[in-house]
Order: sequence, then C-alpha cells, then structure tokens
Amino acid sequence: MSKLTCIILAAGKGTRMKSNRPKVMNTLAGWPLIKHVINTCEALKASQIVTVIAAGMDDVVAAVAPHDTAIQKKQLGTADAAKSALPVIKYDRGHVLILLGDVPMVSKDTLKELWDAGKKTGLSVLTFRADNPYGYGRIVTKGDYVTGIIEQADCTQDETDIDLVNAGCFCVAADKIEKWLGAIGNKNKQKEFYLTDIIASAAKDKVKCAYVEAPEHELLGINSRAQLAQAEWSMQSRLRDAALSNGATMIDPATVYLAADTVIGRDVVIEPNVFFGPGVTIEDDVTIHAFTHIEGASIAAGASIGPFARIRPKSKIGENATIGNFVEVNRSTVKAGAKSKHVSYLGDAVIGAKSNIGAGTVIANYDGFDKQDTVIGDRAFIGSNSTIIAPVKIGNGAYVAAGSAITTAVPDNALAVARAREVVRDGWANEYRAKKESSKKSKPVKVKGKK
Ligand code: UD1
Ligand code: CA
Repeated sequence: MSKLTCIILAAGKGTRMKSNRPKVMNTLAGWPLIKHVINTCEALKASQIVTVIAAGMDDVVAAVAPHDTAIQKKQLGTADAAKSALPVIKYDRGHVLILLGDVPMVSKDTLKELWDAGKKTGLSVLTFRADNPYGYGRIVTKGDYVTGIIEQADCTQDETDIDLVNAGCFCVAADKIEKWLGAIGNKNKQKEFYLTDIIASAAKDKVKCAYVEAPEHELLGINSRAQLAQAEWSMQSRLRDAALSNGATMIDPATVYLAADTVIGRDVVIEPNVFFGPGVTIEDDVTIHAFTHIEGASIAAGASIGPFARIRPKSKIGENATIGNFVEVNRSTVKAGAKSKHVSYLGDAVIGAKSNIGAGTVIANYDGFDKQDTVIGDRAFIGSNSTIIAPVKIGNGAYVAAGSAITTAVPDNALAVARAREVVRDGWANEYRAKKESSKKSKPVKVKGKK
C-alpha cells in the first residue's frame, strides 16, 4: 500500500474566536476540533500524523497523543506552518495530505478522493461551492485544473464573485513537498506565506493541480463562534441521521445532542431533550427518558434511564436496570436488574444485581480529601433516605432500614437500623398547645404607634 503522511495545521491564534485557548480545542459534538481531524487521518490508515502547533499548546499535544506534533515558531502563514512539520516527517515516499485543524468535518471518503487525485498529478486541492464565499480563497480553474487561489484580502471585485472556494486541504507528492513549500514567498496584502501558492511552485515543475469538489457541509472552516455553532448544527444532524438509520427511535431528533463517538444500538428509544457527552455506549432496547444527561458511560440492553437522570463518567448500568428521576450515578456500576428510581446519589459504588435503592439514598463517598468505595451486594434493599457513608460494604440480601446512616459493614441477609429510636408521648400535643395559649393571653398587647 502507498504511504500517506498527514500534516494538520493548528498553530494559528484563532483571533476571530476572541478566546484565550487554542481554537482547535473548542469542542464539536463533544470532541475537540483537532480530534475529529486526527480520527479521520487514522481512518485513512496514515503512516504518520503530525500536528503543527505554537509553543505552549500543551492541551493540543495531549489531545493528539500518541501522534506527533511540530512547533511553528511564528505564525507566518499556512505555508510556513506546513514547512514547520517537515523536520518531523519520516517518509519521503508516497503522499502528504495537508489538512486544517479548523476544518474538522471533512470525511474519510472525501480525503480518499483528494489523495487519489494527488496520486495522479502530484498535487491536488479540495474545493467546494460556498453559499457565502466570503473569507475563503477563490479557486481559478483552467479546464480540469486549478491555476491559482486568491485569498479574500487579495481579490479584485470580479474575483469575489467566484463561488468555488478552497477548503484548505492539499495532497502533495512527498518527494516534492520540501521544494514546493520552499519556493513560496510572502508578497501579498497580508505579508503571509500562503499555502495556496504551492500551485505556482508546482507549475514551475510542470505539475498541474487537480481539484476535488465535495459538499459544503463537510468543509466549513471554523473561524468564529458563529461558524462553530453552525458546524455543531450540521454535525448534530449528521449524527442524528446515522443513529436513526441504525435503528434508534427519537421522538424529537432536533432536541437530542450526540457526541461524535456515541454508540446507539437497535430499538433504543430516546425521548426529547437528551444530551450525550463523549464515550457513551447504549445497547439494544434501552429507553432514555426525557431530560437525561449521560457521558462516559455504558448502558446495557433493556435498561431504563431517566427522566431527569444524570449518568457520569466511568459508570456502567447493567441489563434491565432502572435509573429513575433525579438520580445521579458517578463512577459506579449498577448491576443487572438493580433499581434506583428516585432522587439519589450513587458515587464510587457497586450496586449488586436486583438490589433496590430507596428514594433519597445518598452514598457519601467523599470526605473532603479522598473518594471511598461502597459495595452493595445482590438483592439488597436500601430503605429510603439512607446515607451510606463510605467506605462500607453491604452484603447480599441485606436490608437497611429507611433513614439509616450506615458506617459499618452489614453482613449478608442482616438488617441494619442506624437511626434514633422513635419516642411517642400520648397527649403531649394538647398539653403543649394549652401551655402556649395561656402564656399568650397573659402577655400585654402592644398597640402600634403608642409608647
Ligand atoms: C485558509 C486558506 C483559504 C481557505 C480557508 C479554508 C490560506 C492562505 N488560506 O484561510 O484559502 O479558503 O483556509 O478554511 O491557506 N495556521 C497555522 N499557522 C499559521 C497560520 C495558520 O498553523 O501561521 C493554521 C490555523 O491554526 C488554522 C489553519 O492553519 O487551523 C488555517 O488558518 P486560517 O488563518 O484560519 O486560514 P483562513 O483565513 O481560514
Ligand atoms: Ca480558517
């Protein structure tokens, strides 16, 4: 198979986002923008993926790991950024895809087409017809080839009318990239080294630039918060369509928010206003009721979640388990058939199969410094409004009386009652009222305004 190297440009300041953090760390469908591009490069089975960053972008280094990064010392333009990656590149064979960190939705198939076009000529560029071409480089063609790309700032009045625009991604023959990037200057309005000028460099070697046209919704560039919101809208509708066509039911798809990696099985019913953060797997026949928030969790077949449930990372909900309204599950495993149906907090816990957690149960897992574990056995019954103070273990089949504060282990099949014994005094209320009323009568009545 031929070699593919990917360079992703992500060193820009992202000035138009009005932000203090790298633009490519903004999230789209729960993932940083850069992770979308990395994921697509991985799907292409690239031999090496190098992300170009500015010094200090440590969060980007972490987001792209274990892939390589290269540092662009000064942000002198896209050609200079691509050049910064060259010392890190291992292969001078095959082809190099140069991609933009702020064009995250480009699909694997589109990049495959760009790569194939690049294989034929030695250079290819990705384009689209823009609804509003403002801000994009305009493509000038002659026959089947691109002869030049004119940046917005350098356009004449006539050129601004061109609606075929540069998506920013190129495929370049690996043995030519150094020479062609090296020949690019910065004689333009912005005094930047434009990657788009690689077309002129190649032309000097009699290499023509082929182009691939792809749908606009894949190629939106994200320069502003408004464009980020537009991309999210587009991405969400793509993800919802995929979930629906894989056999999920959504009563009102427009109110369901998915992450790029949400996995949803068949015959899953998702009610309105449900949010999935990254890392969620939903098996077949699960119902997610309205207003539920789930991230980093797996929900096994037949479970019922919500309404108004919150399932937090590192949680596993077992087969046919029920998590009801206002129940928060955090770093916990709820085994098959267990139920926690009302107003509870389950943190750092294992809840055994077929156990029942009563309304208002709180697992006190945090002492201000450390988190402690709780293990509740199978078929256990935790009475309503109990506080389970971790670390603690409750055995199989054990009962905890309602209103208990449990601090020590409860053996299998035992009953634990940990609350003050009820005291009942016959007639006490009558005596109390009589006392109160007689003391009220004997007090002088104050009249407003009189001393
Ligand atoms: C760029 C293209 C434009 C294209 C558009 C597509 C050039 C000169 N312009 O414009 O033709 O229509 O993308 O979305 O290529 N970057 C660096 N170092 C730099 C400058 C930029 O790493 O010195 C990175 C940025 O982080 C960003 C990407 O390159 O991820 C694109 O830069 P940006 O400034 O957004 O270019 P556009 O003006 O959008
Ligand atoms: Ca851009």
